[in-house]
Amino acid sequence: MLNKINNTVKKIQVPGIRVFANQVVQYKDGINFTIGEPDFSTPESVKRAGIEAIKSNLTGYSHNAGLVELRKSVSDFFRDKYNFYYHPEDEVVITNGASEGIDSLLRTILSVGDEVILPAPIYSGYEPSIELSGAKVVYLDTTETNFIPDPEQLERLINEKTKAVIFNYPSNPTGMTLSKEQMDSIVAVLSKHDIFVISDEIYSENTFESEHISFASYPELRNKLFLVHGVSKSHAMTGWRIGFVLGQDELMKQVLKVHLNNSICASLPSQFAAMEALTNSRVTPEIMNEAYMERRDYVYDRLVGMGFTMSKPSGAFYMFPSIHFLGLTSFDFATQLLEQEHVAVVPGSAFTTHGEGYVRISYANSMENIVEGMNRIERFITK
Ligand SMILES: Cc1ncc(COP(=O)(O)O)c(C=O)c1O
Repeated sequence: MLNKINNTVKKIQVPGIRVFANQVVQYKDGINFTIGEPDFSTPESVKRAGIEAIKSNLTGYSHNAGLVELRKSVSDFFRDKYNFYYHPEDEVVITNGASEGIDSLLRTILSVGDEVILPAPIYSGYEPSIELSGAKVVYLDTTETNFIPDPEQLERLINEKTKAVIFNYPSNPTGMTLSKEQMDSIVAVLSKHDIFVISDEIYSENTFESEHISFASYPELRNKLFLVHGVSKSHAMTGWRIGFVLGQDELMKQVLKVHLNNSICASLPSQFAAMEALTNSRVTPEIMNEAYMERRDYVYDRLVGMGFTMSKPSGAFYMFPSIHFLGLTSFDFATQLLEQEHVAVVPGSAFTTHGEGYVRISYANSMENIVEGMNRIERFITK
């Protein structure tokens, strides 16, 4: 019966991010630099809030858009921290992680034949939903512009088929963030066109040194912007599966229909935990960031010392060094490094063809593993 399966589904590849993570477990001394989640535990008070909800039998369905109290916490969080406002009643939907939010959102807006622009290299979680909707991905190559989208190039790619542009800053996989000036010139292009802007800012709380600037803080984008977010990365809550989508009320009504038909609602105990995270545990990301910054500096210095080239990342917990000087494909680099030194990294090609010639190294790992992993990478490349 395999021939009866949807052809687009058959063509979807298992994400390249997972391939090497699955293989490294066979080595007892393996070091895994493919990890896309914080290596911290969920804060104690957040865990307690989830446990209390279960004990109190708060284990049923919630409103389809999520508990109104949680939606209020989400709305307050962005108002307090970033000074923009989305109404908790009708402009916030709580989803099963950012992933479900992205999928529901893309299926809400896309029709067959539409085009979606992705600055690439980029996270691999958008493309399958775009293609399953019958739409087409158009890449905006950022490799010549230090992984920052060039506004003129963006302008050239927009045509009558363009339905949306997706941004993800701080970026997975590059760790790059956008400055105010860079955002201003991108927003100037976006505001001229009737296209949706989807900004996945799931790593916003992991921004180092500078302040994160949200696309949602631009009033001129208010009627076309969807903000995708969640507590997975900010509060080490990947397994709780809580994300959120924010947007203008009339658009969110449409998103809600898709969300409620695929999920009914997000897990209720997890919603209570997320509420605690966003109200009483706002300091958690800062604590994690101190550790991330120390590791980032160490990894950066070591890699540059070995001859890799890259800009120092300013957010998320990834490095995306160029491996061009080694003359290997990113897949061969990752395969040989794994086989010879038992260190797993993600080939850049997992983040679109524009990621070829790079590898992603996640430093969401202990300093001890990082030091040992860097020693092994050094040994590998000097061979
Ligand atoms: C850019 C980006 N967006 C979304 C997600 C998915 O987040 P969630 O676990 O909340 O579904 C990830 C996970 O790695 C990610 O890197």
